[in-house]
Amino acid sequence: MNKKLADAINTQLNYEIESAHVYLAMQGYVATLGLEGFENWLGIQYQEELAHAKKFIMFMNERGARVEIRGFENPRNDFESLLEVFEVSLKHEKGVTDRINNLMKIAHELNDYASISFLQWFVDEQVEEEDNFQKLIDKIKMVSDGGGLYHLDKDLATRVFVDPNAQQ
Ligand code: FEO
Repeated sequence: MNKKLADAINTQLNYEIESAHVYLAMQGYVATLGLEGFENWLGIQYQEELAHAKKFIMFMNERGARVEIRGFENPRNDFESLLEVFEVSLKHEKGVTDRINNLMKIAHELNDYASISFLQWFVDEQVEEEDNFQKLIDKIKMVSDGGGLYHLDKDLATRVFVDPNAQQ
């Protein structure tokens, strides 16, 4: 694989692992609020981000590119409110979308059709990621009383991890 694209994908797979830690830290915060459903939901998000990293790693290995795992800054552990957690998450996901779009741009510049095909999964996934967080922000804003939040929390307790790498 072209070195510029391999380096950019390597950076992204590390950012996916960093993203997993962002959500793991958020899970710790919501646990202090006693919201077990939100805790479950963010735990699944953590697993999803690791699965995204794994998907990139498998692709790099298939293409004979060297994977390098790096470190990163501490994630944010404290928040003002439940709403802020999801507002920060949506902003984070928009940043991920920009990064994926940039990878796609590089793949197009190189006429790397295998990478274009592979990256399309992430383009589609980011539409879902942003939509998930936007919908949760809307719902959190809608539930103004404790009863509503209780039911939303129960709803989120039902989210389960579906490994995207097992579906291939
Ligand atoms: Fe891996 Fe949430 O994007």
